[in-house]
Order: sequence, then structure tokens, then C-alpha cells
Amino acid sequence: MRNAYLAFFKENNNMENMLVKEAQGKLGVLVVGVGGAVATTFIAGTLAVRKGLAKPIGSMTQLSHLKLKKGNQIISKKLSDVVPLTQLNDIVFGGWDIFPENGYEAALHAEVLLAKDLDGIRDELKTIRPMKGVFDQNYVKRLNGTWIKSGETRWDMVEQLREDIRSFKKENGCDRLVIIWAGSTEIFQKESAAHQSLASLETAMRANDTEVAPSVCYAYAALSEGVPYINGAPNLTVDFPAMDELAAKTGVAFCGKDFKTGQTLLKTVLAPMFKTRMLGLEGWFSTNILGNRDGEVLDEPGNFKTKEESKLSVIESILVADDYPDLYSDIYHKVRINYYPPRKDNKESWDNIDLVGWLGYPMQMKINFLCRDSILAAPLCLDLVLLTDLAQRSGLSGMQTWLGFYFKSPMHVPGKLPVHDIFVQYDVLKNKLRELIGEETFLLEEN
Ligand SMILES: NC(=O)c1ccc[n+]([C@@H]2O[C@H](COP(=O)([O-])OP(=O)(O)OC[C@H]3O[C@@H](n4cnc5c(N)ncnc54)[C@H](O)[C@@H]3O)[C@@H](O)[C@H]2O)c1
Repeated sequence: MRNAYLAFFKENNNMENMLVKEAQGKLGVLVVGVGGAVATTFIAGTLAVRKGLAKPIGSMTQLSHLKLKKGNQIISKKLSDVVPLTQLNDIVFGGWDIFPENGYEAALHAEVLLAKDLDGIRDELKTIRPMKGVFDQNYVKRLNGTWIKSGETRWDMVEQLREDIRSFKKENGCDRLVIIWAGSTEIFQKESAAHQSLASLETAMRANDTEVAPSVCYAYAALSEGVPYINGAPNLTVDFPAMDELAAKTGVAFCGKDFKTGQTLLKTVLAPMFKTRMLGLEGWFSTNILGNRDGEVLDEPGNFKTKEESKLSVIESILVADDYPDLYSDIYHKVRINYYPPRKDNKESWDNIDLVGWLGYPMQMKINFLCRDSILAAPLCLDLVLLTDLAQRSGLSGMQTWLGFYFKSPMHVPGKLPVHDIFVQYDVLKNKLRELIGEETFLLEEN
């Protein structure tokens, strides 16, 4: 028994209420796209934080407090003191990419973090050497991968990925693993016959059906090996019946999709505000300039379409036009991403919002966000890895809707509306944590 949380729980709780198993041993974190901007910023940042070289700003798991109800009292505790998360020192990183640079070279290449900030963790980063990726250029037209697996069929590739997973776990003495997709956005894809059941998916992979995206091969390999999977891109990947069936069979957790970082994060804060105050909305025009490799990939119409669908879904489902036809039945919502190399990872976004007030009088709101894409995404990767591991240790399997807080297109049960409102999502997340540690859950207004 170790950590402040256990001492706290022994004093305050009946330990039998706790659903989650303690984190023991090492957690292997395998990142798909390990040489990318988000991945290297996440990994370098985590290494720097655990060496005491930087602060984990933006990470809910590292900084937030969690309120707990003790009789008539509400007490506030540091979340990481009361929820048994894996310690950062127990994490081992690895992953796959379609380019061979090691973690240090890739972080320099990404140009997100300054070389001086990588100095203190250079040696650790150099040891992160990507395993060869599963790649089909039809899914990411702008990239010419040079570090890729060969095999006759998708099924052969999956077998190789499964072997990678087993070897990594053994060689690094890991107790458990988590896989997170921080790879490129694939072209837009709808479910087809291959996605409808586990049997049809396996048949399609054996026949090397090109309907099976590379990301699906990683997710299939992960769930088959009992490893939880996080989808950070808007790709279809785990969002279809065959994956539900596989996760149920192997008892594995998964979540997605598409990290909610910049413009969409703002939308899920502002749209609830407009609705709460019963302000109308006529239009929302969002545009961005972005010059990193993600921007280049999204410059291809097929890949942009995947991102566009993910970004567009947000405001309509928060505002519910059916309930408020006078306010929200005719919204013009447009999203643009423009590839502009000089700006690199330092994305700039502009939003023009056309609002309607008292007696129908028009108003406008303009937002200019000068952000850094990977600086926003990296803490979400850390939180998601720790929380998905927590879910798996708590015996949760299948789709983890309570992690919707982190995603632009939160996965949801078919037939149910996704929850986009960030405050509702945060409440759901915190209540799930309370439930997992055997604490009483709160109503929104008490929280
Ligand atoms: N940064 C953000 O704010 C943000 C927000 C939401 C979603 N995302 C998504 O996160 C992903 C990563 O973004 P990024 O800026 O790091 O992009 P990036 O281009 O820098 O990194 C992607 C990496 O994935 C690799 N890759 C591509 N296909 C692969 C495959 N089949 N197997 C293994 N590796 C593969 C690429 O070589 C590259 O190293 C993108 O899909 C992006 O849309 C980013």
C-alpha cells in the first residue's frame, strides 16, 4: 500500500467501496504516430515533468482538485492524491511511425519545443525508436512513409502488430499497456459491410480489403491483446459494431475520438452560454491557419472531410434546434483549415459568431486565438492515457463515454445524442471518478 490516496482512503473510506485496482508495476504507453508533433510534445513533456524540469500545465489529472462529500461536508482534495492513477515514473514510452527518426530527432523536426527544453531529456528521447508502421497511402495521400511493414494482407500486418505489442511488454517488463493514436487523420470513411461484425471484419482483413483502414489494424491488434485503445484523430477506427463485439469479447476499454483542443473547445464553452441565456445564433464562421505536418495532411480534401465532420457536429447538438426553433433552426456553420507553412505548429484561428438578441437585434462576437496545437493536445494525451488505464484496472470495458470531455466527437451509444457541453462532460467525468473510488456522486448544482 503506497501513496497519499491510500492513506486518505484508509482513514476516510470503506476500502471495499473502491472499484479500481491499485496501479502496480510499469505502464507501457505505445503511441501510433510516435514521431509526430503531438506525440513528441506529449512524451517530452511527461519526461520533463517527471524529472522536475517543467510543470504539467493543462493536465487535469496532474493539477485538478476533486470535491468529495463527507456527511454534510464537502472537502476538496488533489485529484491525484485520491484517485489511484499510475505514477509518471512508472510509464515507459514506445510506439510506431512510418518514419524512422528517434524521439529526439522527431521532436526537433516537429519544432514545437525549443532545443534547450529538450536538452535535459535528450538521452531518454533518443531511446524511443519507432517500430515500423502499418500504412496505406490511399488513407493519407500527402505522406510517403519509408518505415513501413510489409505483408500480403491486413491480417498479416495485424499479426505483426500483435507481436510488437507482446515483445514491447516483455522487453520493458510492463505490467500493462495502453495504445493511443496520435497518427495522421485518415481520409473520410463511412461504415461498410466489413465493419458490421467481428466475423466480417476478420474476413475483410484476411482478404486484404482496402475498406479496412490502417488505424483499424492497430485498434484490432490492441483490443485482441487486451490493451485499451484511445483514438485521438477523427478516424472511424473503433467507432463501429465489430469493435464493440471485439471489446466485449476481450474485456477491453476504448475511447475517442479527435482531441478537443482549440476552436472546438471554445465552441463547447460558448454555445452552452448562448443557450443558457437564450441568445439566438445565425452563423458561426471558423477559419484557421496551420503549418505543421497535420496541416499539410488536412490540406488534402479527403482528409479534411474527416476533420470537418468532426468539427461541425458540435454546436447543433448543444443548441437543439428542435426545442428552440426561433433561436437555432437556421444556423450557417462553416469550418476552414488553411495550410500555411510559416506558422508551423502555432495555429491561429478566427471565429466570427453572428448572434441574435432581444427583439431580434443582431450582434457579433470575434475571437482570435493564437494557440499552439500540440501544446494544447499533449496534456490531453497524458490524461487520457492515465484515465483509460484506470478504466481498464476498474474492470470497465467497451466504449468509455465518460471520457467525452477530451474529444471533439465523443463516442456515444447508437441512438443516444453525444454530450458536447464541456461543463456537463466535466461533471460526468468527475462523477465517474468518484464512483470508481467508492465515493458519493454529486448533482451538477452541488458540484
Ligand atoms: N494538435 C491538436 O490540437 C489536435 C487536435 C485534435 C486532433 N489532432 C490529431 O492528432 C493527430 C496528430 O497530429 P500531429 O499534429 O501530431 O500530426 P503529425 O503529422 O505531426 O503526426 C502524425 C504522425 O503520424 C505518423 N503516421 C501517419 N500514419 C501513420 C500510420 N499509419 N502508422 C504510424 N504512424 C503514422 C506520421 O508519420 C506522423 O509522424 C492528427 O490526426 C491530428 O488531426 C490534433
